[in-house]
Parts: sequence; structure tokens; C-alpha cells
Amino acid sequence: MKIGILGAGIIGQTIGRKWAAAGHDLMFGVRNIKNPKLEELQKEFAAFPNTTTVGSTMDAIAFGEVILIAIPGTAVAGMAQAFGKGLDGKILIDATNKVGGQTLNSVTDLLEHAPQAHVFRAFHTLGWENFANPAMNEQTIDLFYAGPDDNSREVVEQLVADVGLNPIYVGGHEQLDTVDGLTKLWFAMAFGQGKGRRLAFKMMTD
Ligand SMILES: NC(=O)c1ccc[n+]([C@@H]2O[C@H](COP(=O)([O-])OP(=O)(O)OC[C@H]3O[C@@H](n4cnc5c(N)ncnc54)[C@H](OP(=O)(O)O)[C@@H]3O)[C@@H](O)[C@H]2O)c1
Repeated sequence: MKIGILGAGIIGQTIGRKWAAAGHDLMFGVRNIKNPKLEELQKEFAAFPNTTTVGSTMDAIAFGEVILIAIPGTAVAGMAQAFGKGLDGKILIDATNKVGGQTLNSVTDLLEHAPQAHVFRAFHTLGWENFANPAMNEQTIDLFYAGPDDNSREVVEQLVADVGLNPIYVGGHEQLDTVDGLTKLWFAMAFGQGKGRRLAFKMMTD
């Protein structure tokens, strides 16, 4: 699958590494393609057999059937305003958190500028270390996500699984507060209760 990843920071790179290893074709969309920080990234990803490149934000949006948004949460509204036309109709995964904002997610901003997009909320509830190594105590880490229950859900579910996580669908956009609550729980436990960043959640049913 062709995936555009907006942001080549720790989240973009960690998830990108897993998707490239799973055989997906990636393009990282960055603000400044001449940033010397990107040389190492390009060298590393050149080892993957599929094409993996760095381009502008616009190039990565045009490239991807799916777009992972992994930039600061406060930057998403501006990005959506500038590039909404390109985002429209695509599968968007909002992994960002607006810490201290009214809502953690930017789904409303994305839909305002890309009303036909299939917007999901995933990869925002846990620290990146848990995506880099998605197993703990011989169990696969659960990844709770929300978004439309249409054909695009299968795509997102597979992409979560391709990171090595166990995807758990929570519901549509009416459940955004629920999945964002897990981010708050993660912060409360990892930092508030001093449990550290290697912390994840497991659903149990009988
Ligand atoms: N770190 C985690 O464990 C974690 C876990 C879950 C979710 N998240 C969320 O994921 C998102 C990315 O976090 P991160 O830890 O990967 O951050 P990061 O390592 O600081 O990377 C941020 C990326 O966004 C780019 N960027 C910065 N400001 C931008 C702007 N105004 N417009 C467009 N791009 C911009 C940066 O590019 P430059 O190099 O040009 O600055 C960089 O590529 C955040 O919303 C965060 O809340 C993080």
C-alpha cells in the first residue's frame, strides 16, 4: 500500500520502519526536504526493497492512499487548511495529540477541510517505544482505535497489525473522547504514577 507519512520524527519513523518492513511503499512528507537530519533517515530506509523517499508535505499527500499524520497536534489545523484538497477522500490516520488543547485530536479540523476523508484516530494512545517493540511479557500490545465503520476500517486494522500490534476497534467518531481518554490514562500512569513509558493496555473478555 502507498502511505504518506506527514512528519519524520520519532512517531513517523517508528511506525514507518514497521510498515516498510511489512512491504508498504512510503513517502515521508516534511517541511524542509533539505534538512540534514533527513540524510540518515534516507540512508536507513534505502535498505528496504520498496521505494521509500522523502518529499514535501504536498508530495507525500499526493503519493499516499493512506496518510499518517505525525506532526505536532497544534500544527494539524494549519496543515489541513493548506492541503485539505489533497487529503480529501483519502484514509487519514490522526496520531497526533494537542496536549493542553480542548480536544486531543484534530478530526474536526481534518474533516472541515477534507470532508470526504475517512478519518481515523490511532497510534496516539501509547508512547512510541510500545510501537517499536509491540510485545510485552510475551503478549501482543492492544491498540485501540476509532473511525468510520466502512471499507477503510479494514485497511487501518491491517496497518495496525502490520506494526505488530493487536487492533481493537472502539467505534466511530462518537468514540473519539473514549480513545483520547486512553491517551490521558497512559500519561497519568506513565508519568503521574511513575510507571514509565514502556506501558500499554490489554483488553480482557470472557
Ligand atoms: N512521541 C510519542 O511517543 C508519541 C506517541 C503518540 C502520539 N504522539 C504524537 O505524534 C505527533 C508527533 O510526535 P513525535 O514524537 O514524532 O514528534 P517529533 O519527534 O518532534 O517529530 C515531529 C515531526 O513533525 C514536524 N513538524 C514540527 N512542527 C511542524 C509544523 N509546524 N508543521 C509540519 N511539521 C512539523 C517535525 O519536523 P522538523 O524536523 O522540520 O521540525 C518532525 O518531523 C505529535 O502530535 C505527538 O503528540 C507522539
